[in-house]
Amino acid sequence: MSVRIFNVQCSIINSHFQTMKKLTYRFSNSSTDYYLAYGISHLKKITDQRSTILITDEHVYNAHAKRFKGWNTIILKPGEEYKVQATVDALVDKLIEMEADRKTTLVGVGGGVITDITGYVAAIYMRGLRFGFIPTSVLSLVDASIGGKNGIDVGVYKNMVGIIRQPSFILHDMVFLNSLPQAEWENGFAEVIKHGCIKDAVMFAELEKRSLVHYQGRQRSICELIQRNTILKSKVAQKDEFEKGERRLLNFGHTLGHALENQYELLHGQAIAIGMTYACHISEQLAGFRQTERVVNLLEKYNLPTYASFAKQKVFDVLKMDKKREKKEMNYVLLEKIGKAVVKTISLKQLEKIIQEL
Ligand SMILES: NC(=O)c1ccc[n+]([C@@H]2O[C@H](COP(=O)([O-])OP(=O)(O)OC[C@H]3O[C@@H](n4cnc5c(N)ncnc54)[C@H](O)[C@@H]3O)[C@@H](O)[C@H]2O)c1
Ligand SMILES: [Zn+2]
Repeated sequence: MSVRIFNVQCSIINSHFQTMKKLTYRFSNSSTDYYLAYGISHLKKITDQRSTILITDEHVYNAHAKRFKGWNTIILKPGEEYKVQATVDALVDKLIEMEADRKTTLVGVGGGVITDITGYVAAIYMRGLRFGFIPTSVLSLVDASIGGKNGIDVGVYKNMVGIIRQPSFILHDMVFLNSLPQAEWENGFAEVIKHGCIKDAVMFAELEKRSLVHYQGRQRSICELIQRNTILKSKVAQKDEFEKGERRLLNFGHTLGHALENQYELLHGQAIAIGMTYACHISEQLAGFRQTERVVNLLEKYNLPTYASFAKQKVFDVLKMDKKREKKEMNYVLLEKIGKAVVKTISLKQLEKIIQEL
C-alpha cells in the first residue's frame, strides 16, 4: 500500500509557503547544490539531457515512467541484495555500451541503494564522472543521498567497499513519495528519529507529538521535516567530511544495526531501530543516559522494531569487523541525553560482554 499526498509540488500548492529552496554546501574540494522541492522538471536546467544518464530501479521507474521520458535511463533490479559488485560490473558494461564518456553525468533516481551504487560507479568509471541524485525514498531524502559516502556491500559486510565523493547536485521531487510503500515510510523515519536522538531534541519532541499519519497527510509538515533533516545531516557531513569527529555521531544505532541488517534480512531502518534501542541501554551503563523509554516509545509509535532476540555471538563476530573499529577498540555512539550524543571508545572485550548481556 502506498500513501498519496502530493498532487503537484508542495511549493506550488502553497505558494505563500516557501518550500522551494536552493542551497549550496561546500566540501573540501567540491560543492553540492541542493534544489529542495524543485521537481524533476528542473533537471534539464542543471544538466544537459543528451549527455546525462539516469540510473533507477524497477519500482521507481514503473511508478513514474512518464517522468523519465526523454532521458537516457538504466533500470536496475530493486533491493539491497543488488547493492553488490556484480551490479557495478553490469552497470559499467552498460555505460560502455551507451558510449558514456568523461563528459557524461550520472543521476541516481531512487532510494539509498540506487544513490549508493550510482555515486560509486560515477567515482570509478573512467576514474570519475560528474553525478547527482534525485532521492525518492524518505531514507534517501534525509540521509543516504547526503554526504558523499557511496559504495556496496560485500557478503554480510555492509558498505564494506566504497568512496567519499560529493554529488554535484541533489534535487528533491516530493511527488515520488506518492508511490512509496508504507513500510518504506517507516524505514525512513528511523533515520529521522536518529537525527532527533543525536542532535535535535526539539524535533524529537515534535515527532513525539505527531505521527506518521500526520506527516503523510500534510505536505507542509513532511516538506519541512525532510528539509530540517537534510540540513542537519548536510551540516554535520560538511563540517567533518571524512568522519574524523562529529560525523561519527550519525552512526548512532548503526554498529549493531549493520551487523543485524543483512543477517536477518531487515530493512535498514528496522535494523538501526533495534541498534538504537540497545545503544540506549549501553548508554545507560556508560554515559549516564536516563531516557531509553522515550526513545523506545517513539520508535514504536512509528512502527519500528525495538527489542529483538538475535544470535549474540554471531552478530558480535560481524559487528567487530565494523568500519568504526580501530584495532581492539570500537568507537561506539552513545547518548548522554536526547539531542546529545557522544562517541565512546569501548574495548572489543568489554563490548562482547555487554552484547552477551543485553
Ligand atoms: N550513503 C549513505 O550515507 C547512506 C546513508 C544511509 C543509508 N544508506 C544506504 O541506503 C540504503 C537504504 O535506503 P533505502 O531504504 O532508500 O533503500 P532502497 O533503495 O532499497 O529503497 C527501498 C525500497 O523502496 C523502493 N522505492 C524507493 N523510492 C520509491 C518510490 N518513490 N516509490 C516506490 N518505491 C520506491 C525501492 O525500489 C526499494 O524497493 C542502504 O543500502 C543503506 O546502506 C546510505
Ligand atoms: Zn542509516
